[in-house]
Amino acid sequence: MTDQNMTGARAAPDTVRPWDPVVRITHWSIAAAVIANGLITKPGGALHVWIGWAAMAVLATRLLWGLIGPREARFSAFPPDPRAALSHLSDLARGRPREHGSHNPAGAMMAYALWACLVVMIATGLVMTGGKSPVTITEEKAAVAQGDWSKLVEEGDGGSDHEDGGLGDTVEEVHEVVANLMLLLALLHVAGVVAESRALGRNLARGMVTGQRR
Ligand code: HEM
Ligand code: HEM
Repeated sequence: MTDQNMTGARAAPDTVRPWDPVVRITHWSIAAAVIANGLITKPGGALHVWIGWAAMAVLATRLLWGLIGPREARFSAFPPDPRAALSHLSDLARGRPREHGSHNPAGAMMAYALWACLVVMIATGLVMTGGKSPVTITEEKAAVAQGDWSKLVEEGDGGSDHEDGGLGDTVEEVHEVVANLMLLLALLHVAGVVAESRALGRNLARGMVTGQRR
């Protein structure tokens, strides 16, 4: 639990610095939002859109943090590098992954892929809901509950006017396919965390909770 590298640890004191609270809070918020919207909430319902907007704010925070946050949180500490990612995976397969100051190169590629999927989910979600805020959608739902169906049937609650094979249909399709892709990537991501934790002999997931990585 302690992080006392000074007392004779092999790693240089700053090679594996703790994750700061912004990285940790944004990570678990994004994970929760993706799981909730991908598996639990009613697609296109008010809660789904609330969570989607919250995910948008959290993602924006993390992306900004990638520019101005502490060293290990910055994009410059884990640049996208497919060749390094492959070589890391081959080291991992041989049980000898190297330590990295931030995400390892394979984890970095995964982080960018998950964030990219989330951007697509948010963009397509906003298109499907016509950019209506969750507050508006909630108000419309309340109107529907009182018998006024006129507005909501058009958009937001299943997008019923998307049957013509037009742009709306494509956007909905992209939203669905990328949601499934993102859930698959998240599974691979967790498998990677487990494999890497075993090979390094330390629990990386705990590091994402407590911040301590040594
Ligand atoms: C956090 C990321 C998100 C995930 C994982 C997610 C996931 C999903 C899934 C799995 C569906 C069902 C797709 C289908 O079977 O047709 C869906 C539908 C929908 N989502 Fe999302 N979503 C996310 C974000 C958003 C956002 C940000 C919005 C709006 C601002 C949104 C609005 C909608 C709407 C309106 C539908 C209904 C589509 C239709 O059937 O017409 N989603 N979403
Ligand atoms: C839908 C679910 C998930 C998504 C979308 C997701 C996404 C991400 C992203 C984007 C990063 C980069 C973090 C950053 O730099 O801000 C990351 C890192 C990480 N995630 Fe997840 N994650 C999910 C679930 C999980 C789960 C369930 C665990 C626990 C087993 C986990 C453990 C980690 C760890 C340990 C890291 C840091 C890896 C390292 O040391 O380099 N994640 N995840």
